[in-house]
Amino acid sequence: MNNQTAFVINYHNRTKHSLERYARGPETIDWEDQPDQFRRFNGCNIVELPCPGKELDLLFADLYKPESIPTSPFNLANIGLLLELAFGLSAWKQFGPSRWALRCNPSSGNLHPTEAYLINTDNNLAKPGIYHYVSHDHHLERRCLFNQIIPVSGILIGLSSIHWREAWKYGERAYRYCQHDTGHALGALRYAAATLGWSIELLAEWSDDDIAHVLGLNRADDFKKMEGESPDLICRINTGANNTPVNRAALLESAQSGKWSGLAASLRAYHFYKWPVIDKVALAASKPRTQEHQWKSIQQELIIKDQSNLIPGMVRQAQDERNQRPAVRPELVEGHIQPLHKSPCTKPATAIIRQRRSAQQFDGKMPPLPTADFYRMLAAVLPSTATFDLWRWPPKIHLFIFVHRVEGLEPGLYGLPRTDEALAKLRSATLPNFAWQQVNTIADALPLYHLYSGNCRQIAKTLSCHQPIASDSAFSLAMVAEFGETIEASPWLYRRLFWESGLIGQVLYLEAEAAGVRGTGIGCYFDDSVHEILGFKDNAFQSLYHFTIGKPLEDKRLETLPPYGHLDTN
Ligand SMILES: Cc1cc2nc3c(=O)[nH]c(=O)nc-3n(C[C@H](O)[C@H](O)[C@H](O)COP(=O)(O)O)c2cc1C
Repeated sequence: MNNQTAFVINYHNRTKHSLERYARGPETIDWEDQPDQFRRFNGCNIVELPCPGKELDLLFADLYKPESIPTSPFNLANIGLLLELAFGLSAWKQFGPSRWALRCNPSSGNLHPTEAYLINTDNNLAKPGIYHYVSHDHHLERRCLFNQIIPVSGILIGLSSIHWREAWKYGERAYRYCQHDTGHALGALRYAAATLGWSIELLAEWSDDDIAHVLGLNRADDFKKMEGESPDLICRINTGANNTPVNRAALLESAQSGKWSGLAASLRAYHFYKWPVIDKVALAASKPRTQEHQWKSIQQELIIKDQSNLIPGMVRQAQDERNQRPAVRPELVEGHIQPLHKSPCTKPATAIIRQRRSAQQFDGKMPPLPTADFYRMLAAVLPSTATFDLWRWPPKIHLFIFVHRVEGLEPGLYGLPRTDEALAKLRSATLPNFAWQQVNTIADALPLYHLYSGNCRQIAKTLSCHQPIASDSAFSLAMVAEFGETIEASPWLYRRLFWESGLIGQVLYLEAEAAGVRGTGIGCYFDDSVHEILGFKDNAFQSLYHFTIGKPLEDKRLETLPPYGHLDTN
């Protein structure tokens, strides 16, 4: 095991919460001192985006059929809508003198470490260069003006994290939450792009250094000490399938020779507590340039190759065997592989995206969640659904679900391996008395396994740092990663595991809204107690994120205000 891998594993272990002690964090919090949620670069040219709030006719249910969504043209109005639906404000909340913004993407503690950038090479949209999106003002700050233009088909969006924003409240564990938030932001971008008929291509070959150079994150003098941004990912938004590869070297050269402007305003936080392990783990988990593959197309190729060696009868058998794979069912295929039942939601996709919230309390006496809604939400996180088209790698996250109140299902613990390969591994790593009995009613479509019957509410609540949201819901769940092998292959894959769980979380948030209920991500849980309950004895599997869904109880004391009422939109 190399030093970087050892460091990452060590970081993961030392940032576990346990029943005996929480991971190291600040002993006191001065709420007056919260880091500014909105980054601004002073001294940049501003590009105003057309007025936010546009509603599209497209229904949420239409998102299940991306091929039927008309492709919108690239123009500033549509790019503005993309950024708003992914990272923009969705409401303000007010309680007494306190007022805080909510966004379309969620964030642990509402601290929002994720920043978004647009790279534009099309003169018709705006002057070619690098732009930072300010969600509060719904405008772009031009950080760099390119001297030379090498056209890229589509636009590029880059994401970065200000770790300090999250560390201010959560201390050492904050690095994990920043990665979750990146996964959620990627999911939010995916849904926003889908409403416009656009797709997302992760430029996964790029190194963190490449991303930092192009986005200007390496310009240390432009940022206040300890308030810099860490590169996360870069992706291209496509309108069609046949795009020429992005010329990374030319973009790096354009950024290098471009004219930069702007200094990051201070986040105004007093850096009383310091968490040096975060910078160290960020370094240990930084990504080099790599050669990446498109996992789904490799699977296809292998299948074709397999078949070329088979006699016709065996082809049929191989086909049948493949049809037994949990994640890819022929009855789910309709152009794209479809979730179990199409959502009956008749709300516009843009409305569902904007109404997404985290439930802070659930009605513990709710009538059971309809079975179809439960299955549909689970089917939506299978890797074969359209949302996961952008995910280029084999799925590594699997679900263990505490069912509390679901129609027709015995309360208890259930498993949802997201690949068939994982089923055997999970089965042998978990407690020997787990039944692993496939739920028959949907056996053909969803790899859901019953493990254990019983009331798991108290357990779920205790495991999620004693939070009642994990027990008063219809169901809550742990996202378990294939951990040890993954990190040992490459330490930077640590981040990708959190991104994958954040992406799953984003799907659950939106599916919950579409089903008329509500979800909440849960980053606070007692890591090793979860492992003990499931029977994991080593780090082959680790729980990386929790989630809960149920009937929300509104806090009537809070006033809700429109997201962009503060902008003069006349
Ligand atoms: C990674 C992550 C972890 C979270 N952990 C918790 C948690 O442990 N408990 C909780 O009540 N809410 C949790 N939340 C919900 C956030 O507090 C919520 O997203 C934030 O306050 C913004 O509100 P919104 O989701 O309604 O926009 C988490 C959210 C994310 C994205």
